[in-house]
Amino acid sequence: MTKSKAVRIRQHGGPEQMAIDEVEVGEPGAGEIRIRHRAVGLNFIDVYHRTGLYQLPMPAALGMEGAGVVEAVGPGVTHLKPGDRAAYASQPPGSYCELRVMPAKTVCKLPDAIDFDTGAAMMLKGLTAQYLLKRTLPQGGLKEGDFVLFHAAAGGVGLIACQWARAMGLQLIGTAGSDAKCQLAREHGAAHVINYAKEDFLARVKDITGGRGVKVVYDSVGKDTWDKSLDCLQPFGLMASFGNASGPVPPFAPGILGPKGSIYMTRQTLFTHIATREATQEMADDLFRAVTGGQVKIRIDQRYPLAQVQQAHRDLEARKTTGCTILTL
Ligand SMILES: NC(=O)c1ccc[n+]([C@@H]2O[C@H](COP(=O)([O-])OP(=O)(O)OC[C@H]3O[C@@H](n4cnc5c(N)ncnc54)[C@H](OP(=O)(O)O)[C@@H]3O)[C@@H](O)[C@H]2O)c1
Repeated sequence: MTKSKAVRIRQHGGPEQMAIDEVEVGEPGAGEIRIRHRAVGLNFIDVYHRTGLYQLPMPAALGMEGAGVVEAVGPGVTHLKPGDRAAYASQPPGSYCELRVMPAKTVCKLPDAIDFDTGAAMMLKGLTAQYLLKRTLPQGGLKEGDFVLFHAAAGGVGLIACQWARAMGLQLIGTAGSDAKCQLAREHGAAHVINYAKEDFLARVKDITGGRGVKVVYDSVGKDTWDKSLDCLQPFGLMASFGNASGPVPPFAPGILGPKGSIYMTRQTLFTHIATREATQEMADDLFRAVTGGQVKIRIDQRYPLAQVQQAHRDLEARKTTGCTILTL
């Protein structure tokens, strides 16, 4: 048994619920590895886990993303060996720690050209941008020149999506909560930007698209953007909801989708897409190519020591962060 510092909560609540515990880490079982983290990724889903919007059994470890060195592999694990550099987005939560035993399925070897900090920052957010832009598509798919609306475009997932959309030839309209964030989104590939804190994003989208609307809305803001987002869509457009940063979308009647233009609606989660080793690796390879090829740069705008995890959560929730955030060890 080895000891590790690990961030855990004993009840759902505010950032003050997170405490650093000393936990024992054992040997990996079948299908598991033991990984020593070199950096850990911070994601908005960690806030949902902490507050209880997404319920966890207590006590609960937090964190879904990290990078480090594989120390040991359990029976049946063939794609990793001790000494491998690796990175992952994975269930169950528990990456806010130095060392852990975890399922090997979604852990991928990290290319030599990608450092640990970048690996820790990019897996959950990058794989999300991957499945949204490449697998969460309107009928007939997306082609060069098509308009898509992407909310919170200056955030972790957002800045990756801006760059990837540009590489795909899409016209991504990005929203963000300040002029400085809009500028950042534009610099990272958003074709158009809207400061939704002071502009009516529906009116601007209509204006930008010549009244036609967009083919897809990628909406992680949830409650605050839901209604107007539906009206930003072209007939047969796709409403792709994938988060609730402002609160969950209230229940709605499917009947409203008809008069708005036979709109399609989906609620996506990364964990369906990375349910198998094969699918995870295929998506990760696409992400690694985009990063090592330079189409997508992973911007780490905030770094906090693990001991300052409470402040990291406060800043993320207060919309003070841009790009990716990591916890350092
Ligand atoms: N379903 C999935 O598979 C999946 C996977 C990854 C991430 N996500 C979701 O994608 C979103 C982005 O994740 P991330 O980790 O990269 O976070 P992030 O975008 O870096 O941070 C969230 C951003 O949401 C915006 N926001 C709008 N209203 C907000 C409010 N009331 N409170 C706080 N933030 C608000 C803020 O940007 P502005 O100030 O510019 O508005 C904030 O910076 C999150 O909603 C997350 O849950 C979903």
